[in-house]
Amino acid sequence: MQVSLEEGVPVFSFFWGDPAGYREPAHDAGAVVMHTVSSAQEARRTVEAGTDVVVAQGWEAGGHVWGEVATFALVPRVVGAVSPTPVVAAGGIADGRGLAAALALGAAGVWLGTRFIASEETPFAPMYKDRIAAAAETDTVYSSLFDLGWPDAPHRTLRNSTIDRWEAAGRPSSGSRPGEGETVATGRHGAPIRRYEEALPDAETSGDLEALALYAGQSCGLISSVEPAGEIVRRLVAEAVQTLDECARLVESN
Ligand SMILES: Cc1cc2nc3c(=O)[nH]c(=O)nc-3n(C[C@H](O)[C@H](O)[C@H](O)COP(=O)(O)O)c2cc1C
Repeated sequence: MQVSLEEGVPVFSFFWGDPAGYREPAHDAGAVVMHTVSSAQEARRTVEAGTDVVVAQGWEAGGHVWGEVATFALVPRVVGAVSPTPVVAAGGIADGRGLAAALALGAAGVWLGTRFIASEETPFAPMYKDRIAAAAETDTVYSSLFDLGWPDAPHRTLRNSTIDRWEAAGRPSSGSRPGEGETVATGRHGAPIRRYEEALPDAETSGDLEALALYAGQSCGLISSVEPAGEIVRRLVAEAVQTLDECARLVESN
């Protein structure tokens, strides 16, 4: 954080816990502080403590998932709790219809994770991106399975062979799962990646990439190709405008 402050980073976004102690140095440097929450109560608390922008992350999100309330029920509650503080909706949004819906729920903007993982610019393994593009909305699993390196932290990943084997074994607890401790891949500089490790496959990972934590949200069903990030943003905006126009016409015709 010190290096980021020295470099003049304009936005600090905190997740997974209380950013107390980090907010003040960020504000002193003139930066904006964002914090990801999963309930109205948490949102209220963080805004009272000085957070500038709240990110409301719904349960359908990819990666580590802080709460268990879905985006549609969460966002209006958080907006109601902290208005006029801006709220950004995260989880399950991958196209302009999702952006339009989030705005209708009172969000000031949207935050997309899975959609951008499957973009050309991210440094992840092509196989991982292709799996996201091929997946349906039913192909993700919410679990705490990939816990080596980050225990007790629920996350959403694509269903894969590691999950299938664990389920077939009766979902044993950490320490006695099938293949526990075995190396399934190697990362940067040949560092071993064990089964159930929280690491995700980047472009330098080799081995059984499919068996690793393939973080993705339910929005994967809305993604059908790996594209440049700029294209994704341009289409997102055009689709949202079109969707909002269609909604306005619906109102006018009544
Ligand atoms: C691979 C991956 C890594 C993520 N890492 C972080 C992170 O380091 N910090 C953070 O605040 N959120 C992280 N997230 C969560 C996203 O910020 C966001 O809440 C989520 O992706 C939104 O749902 P979506 O995937 O449906 O778009 C990550 C998500 C994914 C898929």
